Amino acid sequence: MDFPPGFRFGTATAAYQVEGAVHEDGRADSIWDTFTRVPGAVANGDTGDVACDHYHRWREDLDLMAELGLESYRFSIAWPRVQPDGRGAVNPAGIDFYRRLVEGLAERGIEAVATLYHWDLPQALQDTGGWAARDTTERFAEYAALVADALGDGVAQWITHNEPWVVTFLGHVEGVMAPGVRDWPTALRVAHHLLLSHGRALEVLRERSSAPVGITLNLTPARPASTAEDDAVAARRLDGYFNRWFLDPVLTGAYPADLLERYREHVGPLDAVRDGDLEVIGAPIDFLGVNYYFPVAVRAAPGEGPLEARTAEPSPPLTAMGWPIDPAALHELLLRVRRDYGDIPIAITENGAAFEDPAPAEGVVEDPDRVAFLDGHLGAVARAAADGVDVRRYFAWSLLDNFEWHLGYAKRFGIVRVDYETQQRVPKRSALWYRDLIRISRAKR
Ligand code: FCB
Repeated sequence: MDFPPGFRFGTATAAYQVEGAVHEDGRADSIWDTFTRVPGAVANGDTGDVACDHYHRWREDLDLMAELGLESYRFSIAWPRVQPDGRGAVNPAGIDFYRRLVEGLAERGIEAVATLYHWDLPQALQDTGGWAARDTTERFAEYAALVADALGDGVAQWITHNEPWVVTFLGHVEGVMAPGVRDWPTALRVAHHLLLSHGRALEVLRERSSAPVGITLNLTPARPASTAEDDAVAARRLDGYFNRWFLDPVLTGAYPADLLERYREHVGPLDAVRDGDLEVIGAPIDFLGVNYYFPVAVRAAPGEGPLEARTAEPSPPLTAMGWPIDPAALHELLLRVRRDYGDIPIAITENGAAFEDPAPAEGVVEDPDRVAFLDGHLGAVARAAADGVDVRRYFAWSLLDNFEWHLGYAKRFGIVRVDYETQQRVPKRSALWYRDLIRISRAKR
């Protein structure tokens, strides 16, 4: 596999999924601390209270990254550590953790890519309306300013949001993720405020930092399940719902007309959108973060919900999440982004898979399925680059097994195994494979 000059390989994590230490050094509750305490909300009653204890073990984890030869690290900053109530002065102990982390990365020659929001809204802001309240967008801009002032040049790239689709629809329509709301009109307000807060943070970061700024979207290729005309129409609708509802405003400054009309008709007026918002949302970004896991096949479902579409049972091979494995769809997706939105620099900010890993033997976990998954998907990225897509980074999800949101600790995505009883880290074969790929690619540069 050949990657373009300057291409970087890394891994990604998110604060609530790895840090633990939820009540230390002034951190207040996030909506995930609240949600994990709702009976039945998370598999096995798991919480992020301890997670991978990364808050205390970050030096060891950074050493591990250095040993694997990782060139870049995408992590997220916990808003409730930095600004426990989501407003007001910075919490020095909270921001110091990230200052040390960023310095530790620099010492090891690893690039720091910081995500400002990976789903852990301060509970205090949820209590005043959460993302459904327009004021939260101003709070987010203020938080972005505090972080940029404190971490300054230590951060090589900023990502405003991670996967606003998930926050919007899994958090506010299906209710399976925090804050567990089930209401379409609320969700559409949330989506708009997430996008607006991206634009406001972008403005703030531009004033305070010279580092490139982007946003991470989870993109889900939506294909018709059959050759029937109504399935094709339904697939186009779900493409709007998953992808264009976020891509279009960020990259073209307008919501897609077909979905606007559908939502107006089937949900209600988009009352959150005010004059001037779309200019803020559509201001140029430096790169697009793409999280890719799997494509869906779509069938028309007349009368079902605002979208009148449903996704078909996926066909094997599947991961432990039940997600289909389809690297070719990533190649196609990257070409599609370029075709529809132009030549924007792209970072694959997440890609990876959960499998039922065996127990470690002789100091390693054999995970051939994950090796094959990474091999296939990195190959797809390399092919897209050869086809002219300006893709510059790849972050495997994830460095460590971690708290997989509503599925708890049962689903393991790490290239490094975590034994949650001892907090011992054991590399999987995929980590060693990735290390070798990075070494070989670097030698070719
Ligand atoms: C993505 C999330 C990430 C992780 C992976 C498996 O949707 O951004 O935190 O949970 O899925």
